[in-house]
Amino acid sequence: MEAIEVKGMSKSFNGIKAVDSVSFSVHRGEIFGFLGPNGAGKTTTVRMLTGVIKPDSGEARVMGRDIVSDTQKVKEVLGVVPETANAYLDLTAWRNMMLIASLYNIPRREGERRATTLLKEFGIYERRSSKVKSFSKGMEQRLMLSMALVSDPEILFLDDPTSGLDVQSARVIRQRIKELQKEKKTVFLTSHNMQEVGEFCDRVGIINHGKMVTVDSPEHLRTRIGGSLAVEVKLDKAVDMSMLDFHPERVGDNYRIYTTEPHEVIRSIVGFATLNGLKILSLNVQSPSLEDVFVKLIGGSNEQ
Ligand SMILES: Nc1ncnc2c1ncn2[C@@H]1O[C@H](COP(=O)(O)OP(=O)(O)OP(=O)(O)O)[C@@H](O)[C@H]1O
Ligand SMILES: [Mg+2]
Repeated sequence: MEAIEVKGMSKSFNGIKAVDSVSFSVHRGEIFGFLGPNGAGKTTTVRMLTGVIKPDSGEARVMGRDIVSDTQKVKEVLGVVPETANAYLDLTAWRNMMLIASLYNIPRREGERRATTLLKEFGIYERRSSKVKSFSKGMEQRLMLSMALVSDPEILFLDDPTSGLDVQSARVIRQRIKELQKEKKTVFLTSHNMQEVGEFCDRVGIINHGKMVTVDSPEHLRTRIGGSLAVEVKLDKAVDMSMLDFHPERVGDNYRIYTTEPHEVIRSIVGFATLNGLKILSLNVQSPSLEDVFVKLIGGSNEQ
């Protein structure tokens, strides 16, 4: 059984397809990254899979349970860190944790034990008696994750969990995701952060304008774009390199060339620079980042 199975799922708002016949599956025990620009349909997908809204068409199963006919059962096996924090601001962190525990029918003592462990782990135990409205964004987000983990869920959905957080809070959250990976839990993580997704996701699904562009491992995605390596060069003058037979792309002050034969590209660049009396300020060969892949696959159109 797959952890998540989605077939032809769609959702429109005011006649506009936010999610357009998306199909994919997430294996059990995998960290699945769901990557896409603003408005791509990530949150809408998460909200459908977690039973907040219903799809217009198509179907999806979470741990074998139908998200429409079995919504309650689906909710029982998952934890969610939603895009916008959903704690009660006028209640204390502790009360919020207890509310979630009772929602999941966790016995009181056990709920208290779990809440204590989690709040300590995320560095908010000392502030457990403060109202959530006094929390910083980072603390609030760490509380969200604590709340999502109280029920020890089979699947954890994290909708852009580190966006807007400082380095320290983001690191605590990423660290925990890696632990969940070791515990063989399934994690569905949406993000704009390529580095984050490339760092620990087993597979990445890329969505754009509601459509799934591709699903693959970060390594495969990197090698799939027009050659497995990128040669980056910086010359002392801005020059037109378009006459070279490979097609250099301008990236800031640098030129980047994707190639499987970096030595040939380097030879041409050196020849070109010598011929034109240019100085090479830097030259290096790198494997393309996930960001390159992303831009290549969705054609660089980042606006909705
Ligand atoms: N409740 C809603 N009512 C109307 N339109 C909506 C609603 N929710 C989402 N949309 C629209 O659906 C599209 C997809 O939005 P969604 O929030 O799923 O994108 P996203 O990938 O999560 O973006 P972001 O990266 O900015 O969080 C957008 O065009 C958005 O404006
Ligand atoms: Mg979103």
